Amino acid sequence: MVKKNACIFISGKGSNLENLIKKSREYSFPVNIKLVISNNKIAQGINFARINSIPFLIVNTKKRGFENLILKIIKKNKISLICLAGYMKIISEKFIREFGKQIINIHPSLLPKYKGLDTYNKILKNKEKKTGCTIHFVNKQLDGGKIINKKFFFLNKNESLETLKIKTQKLERLAYPEAIIKLYRDR
Ligand code: GAR
Repeated sequence: MVKKNACIFISGKGSNLENLIKKSREYSFPVNIKLVISNNKIAQGINFARINSIPFLIVNTKKRGFENLILKIIKKNKISLICLAGYMKIISEKFIREFGKQIINIHPSLLPKYKGLDTYNKILKNKEKKTGCTIHFVNKQLDGGKIINKKFFFLNKNESLETLKIKTQKLERLAYPEAIIKLYRDR
């Protein structure tokens, strides 16, 4: 099986990155993680790239032309899939157009509910009975692209921010790899 090259964009802890690296080692998983990009030079997730000998790039998003730099490196590495995994920066319309291939994102709610930031607090405040995570295509609408995969669970009465996050992220470990498999299976 010829695997496609994927690049993972991160900003923080990198638990999705760690999981996707692990999955990519499986023979039948459709992508290899060829590159990791972080917009945060102290993102813990960079260590997963380091210990797995995956090239990584730290970009300063305050610098003009940073997206052009990313595009150049992505082309050079023949990347055909970009996976956003806790990348807390909006991807410009121009970037989406110029990359021209698939960009997907994971979000810690059942989209279209609770787009944007502060997701867990909003879920608790609204006393939701059910929540989960969603993997979707990235388009110019924030968290608004076509949905690829979703997983849900029911909240307990005494759910806290901490338990909500743990449960959601546990589901993310299953949902993100599944979404990538689905992408290539549905072709
Ligand atoms: C994940 O829970 C992901 O759903 C969320 O950031 C976390 C990153 O965790 N993404 C967003 O909120 C995007 N709007 P990780 O760095 O441990 O993978």
